[in-house]
Amino acid sequence: MRFKNRVAVVTGAARGIGKAIATRLAAEGAAVVIADVDRHGAEMAAKGLEAAGGKAFAYCMDVSDPEQVTATMQSIVQLLGSIDILVNNAGIVGEEFPVHQMSDEQWHRMMDVNLHGVFYCTRAVLPTMLSKKWGRIVNIASVAGKEGVPNIADYSASKAGVIALTKCVAKEVARDGITVNCVTPGLTDDTEMARSFTPEQRASKVAKVPMARMATPEEVAAVAIFLASEEASFVTGAVYDVTGGRSDY
Ligand SMILES: NC(=O)c1ccc[n+]([C@@H]2O[C@H](COP(=O)([O-])OP(=O)(O)OC[C@H]3O[C@@H](n4cnc5c(N)ncnc54)[C@H](O)[C@@H]3O)[C@@H](O)[C@H]2O)c1
Repeated sequence: MRFKNRVAVVTGAARGIGKAIATRLAAEGAAVVIADVDRHGAEMAAKGLEAAGGKAFAYCMDVSDPEQVTATMQSIVQLLGSIDILVNNAGIVGEEFPVHQMSDEQWHRMMDVNLHGVFYCTRAVLPTMLSKKWGRIVNIASVAGKEGVPNIADYSASKAGVIALTKCVAKEVARDGITVNCVTPGLTDDTEMARSFTPEQRASKVAKVPMARMATPEEVAAVAIFLASEEASFVTGAVYDVTGGRSDY
């Protein structure tokens, strides 16, 4: 029970990778808050964790709305006493366009959710972590933020921003018992993103992976869980690839 007496907030945990992370945290004793813009999905995911013997709470929260984020984090602290672990997982993908055809609206929406959302949530939880002198922040970025993938410049740039933000905050709070790390998965199966591909797109993406397959959400969760744990006490500002060997730099 590595996370007994810990309160964890996982954004975007109604499904996909976030749900897999929330499931592991709850199974290992954390009280887990599923904070997702999809109210029904969050409630169903929390019910599933409780049915499996975990302690879970559902909050409807849009990470791109700073006032909502602040108010939600405050009410979680009031209810549960603290926030010890924050997993910034909520994210979107947009339509594929080259930069010269991408709209302002698509670009800004991507930044609002994928990058500003991580900033708002991180800023909102740091005071409680600083007061306890303990905290774990795990950001789910993407290998796209390191490689730069054509036709998803908005997504790639937002994830590169998350990687840089991770390193900055890690240094700011390095002496306060708080670690801040980042996971950069490659394509992950059983997610909306993976389901959106045609069989041809899927085959061409898998061909880039030395292990010749996508990750599972559980494989990404395993790395996130390590970073959220006490054992990762001397790991901060780090970027962990979960790519089946795709990253060769
Ligand atoms: N699936 C992949 O192949 C892959 C690869 C690399 C990185 N990632 C990253 O992993 C994270 C999770 O991805 P996934 O594939 O599980 O996604 P998903 O689409 O399956 O789930 C995303 C969740 O985030 C929620 N969400 C979306 N916008 C939100 C908002 N504004 N506020 C709060 N919640 C919001 C959705 O309701 C959903 O429950 C994302 O940050 C994504 O960029 C995914």
